[in-house]
Amino acid sequence: RCTAVILPAAGSGRRFGAQQNKLFADLAGKTLWQHAAERLSANPNVRHLVMPISETDRPRFEGEFGVWIQERGIHLVPGGRERTDSVRAGLDFLRSDERFQDVRLVAVHDAARPLVSDHDIGAVIQAAAKIGAAVLATPVSSTVKRRLNDEHSISTIDRSDLWLAQTPQVFRLDWLAEAYEKHRGRPATDDAELVERLGRPVALIAGSTDNLKITHPDDLPLAESILNRQLH
Ligand code: CTP
Ligand code: MG
Repeated sequence: RCTAVILPAAGSGRRFGAQQNKLFADLAGKTLWQHAAERLSANPNVRHLVMPISETDRPRFEGEFGVWIQERGIHLVPGGRERTDSVRAGLDFLRSDERFQDVRLVAVHDAARPLVSDHDIGAVIQAAAKIGAAVLATPVSSTVKRRLNDEHSISTIDRSDLWLAQTPQVFRLDWLAEAYEKHRGRPATDDAELVERLGRPVALIAGSTDNLKITHPDDLPLAESILNRQLH
């Protein structure tokens, strides 16, 4: 019984606005996706790592990073148009090969979250082992408003039970497979939503705000300062 990681890396980083996929951006001497891959692989529960990538980026992953990837036994698979398509590709790969027969849990983690702590990885895997599904999240700290149809009319949402979902999101392999089999069309912004739609229990695990997703260029200096604090 072990955990496999799907590390979706097949985006293009449109909002980041660089010439290349944002995941190749440098953070203290390593690319963002390398940080994420190393942190997930370092957890003792994790035995396999599958990384969906785009065909555009394949030459770079296999060239410049080919040895690094091979040494760590990372499996590259073709991603898809939407993130959901990329995760599905990783899942299909895990289910189609008998090398992965011992996999019971799948942890889906955005390659764009390089700073996730080993503590949080362990906590969310442990919760999923018990409950069947678990997601890392942080409590909403701002006051949340809803704009109503009327132009100058707003309301306030009780934030006490609102959380911001992060990754890793960890699931029993059979639950995630069923969720993706039943998922048709209607887009989901994370994987947990598909499992929620099945009516399965999903544990919410309080994670650290350090686990930020790199979306815009301004996120990089912030990530660097967090990394420095984590290391010292
Ligand atoms: N991702 C993926 N396949 C896609 C789209 C996204 O594997 N078709 C991955 C990204 O590479 C990233 C993670 O999903 O690691 C989270 O997505 P996001 O932060 O939105 O990255 P991008 O889609 O690349 O960025 P943007 O939305 O700004 O274009
Ligand atoms: Mg995106």
